Amino acid sequence: MGADGNWERLLEKAFEAREHAYVPYSQFRVGACILTTDGSYILGANIENAAYGSTNCAERSAVFSAYSQGYRKEEIKALAIVTEADRLTTPCGACRQVLSELLQPDTPIVLSNRRETAVTTIARLLPDSFGSEDLQESKNF
Ligand code: THU
Repeated sequence: MGADGNWERLLEKAFEAREHAYVPYSQFRVGACILTTDGSYILGANIENAAYGSTNCAERSAVFSAYSQGYRKEEIKALAIVTEADRLTTPCGACRQVLSELLQPDTPIVLSNRRETAVTTIARLLPDSFGSEDLQESKNF
C-alpha cells in the first residue's frame, strides 16, 4: 500500500487467494488479503462445506489466519475482499460481526471486482455494533 492509497499489490494478492477458493456448491469465488504493518500479505479464500452453514467466508479465513499467526488488530493495515461479480461484494452479516471485533474501526477495507474498486471501513459497514464492551455492562446487573 502506498501512502497515496495505491492498493494494487494488495488486490493482486486477494485475487491470487481467490484462485484457492473451495466452492463446489456455490461456484462463487471470493478472495481476501490482509496487509500487516510488517509488510506481510495474509491470504484467505472461501472454503465451503456440504453442511453449508459450516462454510468459512474469505475475509474470515484471512483474519483468522492473521490472528493465528499472532497478529492483532493494531498490526492490520488493510483488508481486501475481491470477486468477479457484477457488483462489488461486501462482507456478509456474520463477517461484519467478526471484523468489528478483529479490525480497528477505521482500517481500510478495499473491495474490488476488477472493474471497480471502493474503500470502506467496518465502522461504516456495521454501525452501532454489539461488542465486548456490551458484555462488560451486563456485569452491572
Ligand atoms: N462469501 C464470502 O466468502 N465472502 C463474502 O463477503 C460473501 C460471501 C462466500 C460464502 C460462500 O462460499 C459463497 O460466497 C456464496 O455465499
